Amino acid sequence: MQHSGIESKSKIKMFDPIKINSLELNNRIFKAPTLECMAAADGSPTKQLTRFYKRAAKGGCALMTTGLSYVSKDGQAYLAQNGIHDDSLIPAWKNFTDEIHEAGGKIVMQISHGGRQVDPRLLDKKKAKAPSNVPNFMYLYKAHELTEDEIYQIISDFGEAARRVKAAGFDGVQIHSSGGYLLASFLSPITNRRKDEWGGNEEGRFRLFEEIYTTVRKKVNDDFPVLAKVHLGDMMVMGYPYPSNYQAALWMQALGVDALEFAMGVFENAMVTFARGKMPVSMADDHVKPAMKAYWKTTEWIYKPLSGVKRPYFKKAAKQLKKRGLSIPLLLAGGVRRYDDIEEILSEGTADLVGMGRPLLREPNLPNKWKKGEKVDSSCISCNQCTIDLGINANPLKCHHKSE
Ligand SMILES: Cc1cc2nc3c(=O)[nH]c(=O)nc-3n(C[C@H](O)[C@H](O)[C@H](O)COP(=O)(O)O)c2cc1C
Repeated sequence: MQHSGIESKSKIKMFDPIKINSLELNNRIFKAPTLECMAAADGSPTKQLTRFYKRAAKGGCALMTTGLSYVSKDGQAYLAQNGIHDDSLIPAWKNFTDEIHEAGGKIVMQISHGGRQVDPRLLDKKKAKAPSNVPNFMYLYKAHELTEDEIYQIISDFGEAARRVKAAGFDGVQIHSSGGYLLASFLSPITNRRKDEWGGNEEGRFRLFEEIYTTVRKKVNDDFPVLAKVHLGDMMVMGYPYPSNYQAALWMQALGVDALEFAMGVFENAMVTFARGKMPVSMADDHVKPAMKAYWKTTEWIYKPLSGVKRPYFKKAAKQLKKRGLSIPLLLAGGVRRYDDIEEILSEGTADLVGMGRPLLREPNLPNKWKKGEKVDSSCISCNQCTIDLGINANPLKCHHKSE
């Protein structure tokens, strides 16, 4: 497997190529994974989803990652979420990747299990599944603590999903182990209180990822890019990850993961973690229970001083990862808005690829502009109208901010 972490000592430029395993990329800009809420009821891609990614592909980023896509029906976290849980979906996803490739794009599918963060509308009388039954303060429920048999079923579901991702023509698969969803909740001592071999200490909490990665790798073989998005911690304290899960990232590298993205935080504190910015709670529509709105309003008020986006907010953590020995390609996203920030991150060797979620949603064409020498910055103001309308209302992803 070819990696390029050694490049971190040389001055990387935005339009330098890079290889992630067998995947050749022609620049260092990626579209960070964003839930889209554009799939059909069975999880298959719609014309709207295909249009969305073709537009992004034509904008010039080297790599796109889909939003979290469920590996099993009980791992579905959102309405209209992408599914890769059944072989019958392979042909539709193959048509999708064919169209994206024709448009010049490269695309990796992010595979996920929702864990303790499943929209209550999807649960009916069932319970969300998690390592331990700690409460979810946003959705106001307690999850069911997974049994060993259920854990083994989930490991198998991830392997099968990865096999389908490859068969459907994706350029790689990303195992979603951040954002507070199932795999992230296993890594965290706050949400994983188990005393058996799936918890108890750092090794135990890492075991689910290890088993999943090993199964996935067997299903897709050595030359297929397997990326991971690692959960570095649930909370941030003054810009630092706390508690920090750097060891999990290094163990992922040792296992053979081809490239690593990371984030911190859970949905309950997204406005100060992975989707930092304001949270326009008033946009939440009528299905949202008053208690849930009250939760968001309170956290919005408490977190206000910490939710500003002034700079790429995970840069320090990226530096820490490299310092501690991460040498596989590191993908950094979160608060990247300025051309100069990207140049700096790359030339300092802080990360190997720089990603954007909200900015590319607003202006997919930014990489093309930069290639032409127009050094404009993104006009995304991190207003998070996209986040609330999508993650809470389950409406299709779009930028809502009107320019003055
Ligand atoms: C609307 C929205 C949806 C997101 N969905 C996902 C997702 O499905 N998977 C994931 O790993 N991260 C998800 N994220 C986090 C992004 O990948 C990214 O880390 C975050 O938006 C910060 O980057 P930005 O400041 O460039 O938007 C989402 C973020 C937003 C705002």
